[in-house]
Amino acid sequence: MLDLVIKNGKLVFDTSIVSADIAVKGDKIWAIGYAQDFPETVRVIDASGKYVMPGAIDAHMHVEAPFQGCLGANDFYTQSISAAFGGVTMFMDFTNTFKGMSVLDAFEKRKEDMSKSAIDYSIHGKFVEAPPERIAEIEGLVERGCPTFKLFMTYRREGVMATDETLMRVFERAKELSALPMVHAESNVIAEYNLDRFVDSGKLDWHYFAAAKPVLCEAEAFSRALYLSQVVGNALLIVHTTNGAALGVAEAAQKKGVPIYVETCPHYLFLFSDNYDLPDGHLYICSPPLRTEDEAESLWQGMRNGTVSVTGSDDCTYSRAEKEMFLEKGPDGKIIRDFRKVVNGVSGIETRLPLLLSEGVNKGRLSINQVCALVSSNIAKLYGCYPQKGVLAPGSDADITIVDMEKTVTLSAGMLHNNVDYCLFDGMKIKGMPVMTISRGAIIIEDGKFHGKRGAGQFVHRKMDPQYTQYFAL
Ligand code: URP
Ligand code: ZN
Ligand code: ZN
Repeated sequence: MLDLVIKNGKLVFDTSIVSADIAVKGDKIWAIGYAQDFPETVRVIDASGKYVMPGAIDAHMHVEAPFQGCLGANDFYTQSISAAFGGVTMFMDFTNTFKGMSVLDAFEKRKEDMSKSAIDYSIHGKFVEAPPERIAEIEGLVERGCPTFKLFMTYRREGVMATDETLMRVFERAKELSALPMVHAESNVIAEYNLDRFVDSGKLDWHYFAAAKPVLCEAEAFSRALYLSQVVGNALLIVHTTNGAALGVAEAAQKKGVPIYVETCPHYLFLFSDNYDLPDGHLYICSPPLRTEDEAESLWQGMRNGTVSVTGSDDCTYSRAEKEMFLEKGPDGKIIRDFRKVVNGVSGIETRLPLLLSEGVNKGRLSINQVCALVSSNIAKLYGCYPQKGVLAPGSDADITIVDMEKTVTLSAGMLHNNVDYCLFDGMKIKGMPVMTISRGAIIIEDGKFHGKRGAGQFVHRKMDPQYTQYFAL
């Protein structure tokens, strides 16, 4: 007896669309075929007129992660609800690592934190320093299913910046173990130089946040990280990339067979730096900062030609109160603008897939196959959990998102489930929405309601596929 049959839908793969039915037994996809050939089932879902996709995976978010004095509005359970409404069936977060701390201990602690999630989850290590005892932990992390590690090239004053030496030591061990470092590429020296100049001249309005971290600040770090990784010979993923200059460097290296991978995030596609001129511009403060429409065009182009292979939300659910908690008020009760006192980060786990369906597929910028790759298949492949995740195939986890490309909604704080009291996309009309989310065979979103369970998510043990970490001489 089957548990579920999804029939009459168009099944989406990263390179094709197939009209077929899916049989689910327990938490796995049992078969792809035609419903008349399947055994009896407990439930049938008619997906006529809809697309059936592998559940989206978000490999970049920050929850229960103390940063710049803030924590965010969600825990991993509430975040998993918001994610599920956005068609996400697996997410990944980072260890909370600070100087002097064991990354392995932080990993075990993170597993505990994440165990309240209603959807599956996995963990990246974070390295802020590289003494021999930290480097020795990388093997244990890989063995425990954590073969990806984030390093920040900035945030020196926050105490989490990895020096170039740290990068190279982690890169070296990652190479030996076929692991994948993930880099936040912003030049700390450029950011601090600009910041200090702006502070000296009293230029603290939101606008100067973006001016302190221009494209050059990112492009310099991007190129440096890529050069360092080529010296070592490891694969590298550069996260939250915002601009064409960085993509040009990545594309040239990819053409030479260098295993460099690029992530971008929806806020760099849909929100631009002129928002920093708004009175509420502080709500848009994130690192790297928002850029221009021209840079967004380069990102769309990069997603089309494959230079950008993955998207992440970089979700941080800071409420307005958290964004403003360190800002002082003048005698008129108004906020005194000082970009240094605003936590960096914007939310987006629930809107990533809807935005890409609406503005990507329905506006003809991307095919639905490209979106499938960018939100799911490529992520599963690159991060080492394919074909358990990221594909509709017999034996894969029954993580499925049913999408209605005709459904229209107007985005607002009230229609999202992220516990954030503002929405940076407020008033934006979008067409194309996930309408049902299935996690390991259980329907967790149906008819706009959450039916999942706290703690139902499982830890996903990942192992890199060596084809993504090897250099190929082209
Ligand atoms: O502004 C951002 N992106 N905040 C979260 C931390 C990070 O840099 O990824
Ligand atoms: Zn980052
Ligand atoms: Zn991030």
